[in-house]
Parts: sequence; structure tokens; C-alpha cells
Amino acid sequence: MSITAQYIVQQLTQSKQAQIKTQGTAYAPVNIALIKYWGKRNSELNLPITDSLSVGLKTLGTHTSIALCDGQDHITLNGTLLAAEHPFSQRTSRYLDLFRTVPSMGFVVDTKNDVPTGAGLASSASGYAALVLALDDLFNWQLDKTQLSVLARIGSGSASRSLWDGFVHWHAGEQDDGMDSHAIPLTQTLPDLRIGLLTLSAKTKPVSSRSGMKQTVEGLSLYPAWKNMVDTHLTQMLPAIEQADIAQIGQIAEHNALAMHATMMSAYPALCYWLPETLATLQTIWAAREAGLACWATLDAGANVKLIFAQQAQSEVEALFPKVQIVQPFS
Ligand code: PMV
Repeated sequence: MSITAQYIVQQLTQSKQAQIKTQGTAYAPVNIALIKYWGKRNSELNLPITDSLSVGLKTLGTHTSIALCDGQDHITLNGTLLAAEHPFSQRTSRYLDLFRTVPSMGFVVDTKNDVPTGAGLASSASGYAALVLALDDLFNWQLDKTQLSVLARIGSGSASRSLWDGFVHWHAGEQDDGMDSHAIPLTQTLPDLRIGLLTLSAKTKPVSSRSGMKQTVEGLSLYPAWKNMVDTHLTQMLPAIEQADIAQIGQIAEHNALAMHATMMSAYPALCYWLPETLATLQTIWAAREAGLACWATLDAGANVKLIFAQQAQSEVEALFPKVQIVQPFS
């Protein structure tokens, strides 16, 4: 019998019945994966095939408040009350179904992303992390962050990493119930690190991460090589972070992102999130690097590019990409 998300939620929250508050509120940061999560071993629980590692953007994230009501949910996103049929409402309500203690329990959710619209930042990561933290506050469960990481992961895999700022390592785990599949923060800080956000297309990605992962894992692709790649990159990345070696971090992250996209492109039908502007941007970065600029790129399931560099390179990066939005993850 397969273990359901409902069962996991019950296991974690059943014994935590406490005085419910009138409102729960929370904030969670966006995270950028330096070693990507791509591929699930269990799609109901979002259990990954490999570990992944990210850096939180601290000042960019999601603010959420939640309260109870009778009947239907009321979901407000960035100041607009959404219709129940809106895909965002549908997905949020389906997730909230896991937490209703009686069928008539409704939720009033107000959520705001301070992520720039269309920057290709998966706001689902900060979104589900903030929602879980707000639920914990509302129901007064007082779960620890590891348990909240498990709950956030059920909403969206990458959300398991958005419970913390800084470097975060999501361990894939081995258990069928996924209780060992949660993120753990690293203690290292790297104040010189900068992340640059380049919005090349504000359009919604044509294929969701969920179906993209399925297509890559189940198609006849180079996916089997991906697992080894991630293992190697992790064993290189952890000491690079330890040594505060931004060049090494950038190189590994860029290689990892390109390998993930190559794996997608090797499926048939092929999956390609890139636009001509994506390749043009990468070529600009590669040419600048040839000329001495210490800047690397990473890309998620979309056409936009994120830059990785040190504070010392900031003015040169701004000169090369005047529209870049720069974030200091350890400010
Ligand atoms: O958490 P999801 O289902 O949105 O998947 C995220 C996948 C990538 O952004 C491409 C990689 C990652 O690790 O964040």
C-alpha cells in the first residue's frame, strides 16, 4: 500500500492539537538551486531521486497570512482575490485539503510575493514554505523546521529548502514515507556572494516542472547519468562552500545546471526551456569570462538566467547586464 500525503500530515500534526489562533502569519525566502533537483522517486510525496543544494535569497520571498472560515477557501494573491477555478487557487486548496480537520473547514489565505514578476524565480518554493509556516502558526503545532520541511516538500519539492536562509542541503532520503527527505541548513556564510537575476522572458513556462521531470525520467534520456553527476557535484560543492571559493561554487553550479538542461533535451520528445535569448546570454557570459570576468550562470525550468559572482565583480556585471537585479544572500 502506498503511503499518502494525508497519512504523513496526520502523523506529524495529530498529536499537536493546541489552541488555534485567529490568524497565522509567516515569511519564507526564495531559493536558487546550485545543485538542482530534477526527478522524483515518488510524485505524490515529491520524493526526489537525488539530493540538491541551494542558496536562499533572504530579502526576496513570500509573505503569507492564513485564518479559518466556514466553507469555501478565499485565496488572495498579490492583492487580488482569485476565483476558485484559478489554477493557483485550485492547487493551493488541494494542498490545504490535507490540513482540514473537518470537511467544512475553509481557509482565508492572503499571500504576497516580493519576487519580481516573471523573473523566473520559482515562487512555489517560498510560497509553500511560507504557507506551511503560517499553518504552523495558526494551528500552533510548534513543529520543528525539519518537520515543516517535510510538509513544505509535499506542496512543492524545492519548498523543502525555503525554510532557511543561506546554504541549504535537501537530503533525498531513502524511506518510503519520506520522513528522512528534508532539508538541512549549512552553517557557512559567504557575505561576498552575489546572485544576479536576469529576466529574459516574463511568460509562464510552457511545461511545468512536474511534467518536465516525468518526461525526463521516464523518456529514453541521459537521465541515468544525472544521478552520478549530482553525486560528484555535491562532493565538490560542499568543500567549495567550506572554503568560501565563489569561483568553484560558480563553476560547479553552472556545470550542474547545463547538465540538467542537457538531460531534458536528451529525452524524446525533447524538453527545452531555452529561448534564443537564453543561449545569447550564456554566450555573453562565456565570452566575458574568457576576457577575465568571474561570473557564472545557472538556470531553472525556464528561459531566465541567474548569475553567480562575487561582490568584487559587481560593477562589471552591471555594465554587461544593465537590467540585472542583484541580491546579497548573506547581507
Ligand atoms: O519544486 P519544483 O517542483 O518547482 O521543482 C523545481 C525544479 C528546479 O527549479 C528546476 C530545480 C530546483 O532544485 O529548484
